[in-house]
Amino acid sequence: EKGTFQHFMQKEIFEQPTVVAQTLRSYLRPLERQVALPQMDFDISRIERVTIVACGTSYYAGMVAKYWFESFARVPVDIDFASEFRYRDPILPPGGLALFISQSGETADTLAALRHCKANGQTIAVVVNVPTSTMAREADLLLPTHAGPEIGVASTKAFTCQLAVLAALAAHFAVKKGRLSAEQEAEIVAHLLEAPACLNAALDHDAEIRAMAPLIAPARDVLYLGRGQDFPLALEGALKLKEISYIHAEGYASGEMKHGPIALIDEAVPVIVIAPSGPLFEKTVSNMQEVRARGGKIVLISDAEGLAEAGVGCLATIEMPKVHPLIAPLVYAVPVQLLAYHVACVKGTDVDQPRNLAKSVTVE
Ligand code: M6R
Repeated sequence: EKGTFQHFMQKEIFEQPTVVAQTLRSYLRPLERQVALPQMDFDISRIERVTIVACGTSYYAGMVAKYWFESFARVPVDIDFASEFRYRDPILPPGGLALFISQSGETADTLAALRHCKANGQTIAVVVNVPTSTMAREADLLLPTHAGPEIGVASTKAFTCQLAVLAALAAHFAVKKGRLSAEQEAEIVAHLLEAPACLNAALDHDAEIRAMAPLIAPARDVLYLGRGQDFPLALEGALKLKEISYIHAEGYASGEMKHGPIALIDEAVPVIVIAPSGPLFEKTVSNMQEVRARGGKIVLISDAEGLAEAGVGCLATIEMPKVHPLIAPLVYAVPVQLLAYHVACVKGTDVDQPRNLAKSVTVE
């Protein structure tokens, strides 16, 4: 059922405009410009603390969500890898919301963390792609992503759909807390509704990204940099590349580079910079200069404005549409997925079934 695609991963990357639109349809009322979450049998406006727990790509979606919950609802968010969370005796004040994010809904560590939170009086919300999964059954609040079955071991469309659900949840939470006005809610909804078209615009750069893959494929190490809510995208880009191309890659917060990883930079280490134009862009440009001064080769992923300012002298550039910061993590996911995909194709690895990995990790 791959149709005209070579791999399930490629098909799933290209499905994103459709499935994100599908997911948004069940969480937004476009005409009223309102978010529409399922009925909750608890009062979300009374939640004072959120704990997010997940693994892998789902964890990175959670990192983006932390930004949104904190900036929209002004509620503190604690986030951890499921495998760490369970063993650190986390503080779970009564009345807290524990949010679990999982494509499969079966990841053993995440499930164990969910049960731990339940036993400690937390309200359990889950964002899952498999609606019949164990996590879905054990939740107080089930928030399905409607990405459809994800076959490729490397998660792609589940990630962007998770972000869509989490943005809607963060906005709803903020509305209920009285921290967003109706106009602000309408604006958020309008921006989310722009996401599918922007994802399509990002996918238009596929051929260009395929053409640059041979430049990255020989590298032994690749660094990904991002700032703010795009930092999790750097982590996600590095994870995707590692998983399917077996190239060592690391994601770093741009400003952290000079605190260590800059020692790695030389002509042989491509640095992928994820940086939409905006208030943080200047800072990232100076980080790029630090890389360049050491002979590092940069691939800059930005919009026309960002590329006009900092694109000269890069090994390659990938132009994204100019998007509102809220949807940037969804849109910028596409080029990092495509880059990993095409590099893996150049290397001839088994893209859908990479070595040593399972789609669903059901052992702790
Ligand atoms: O099914 P889950 O979302 O709980 O899975 C979590 C991770 O195992 C998963 O995201 C993994 O990191 C992917 N292979 C990433 O592409």
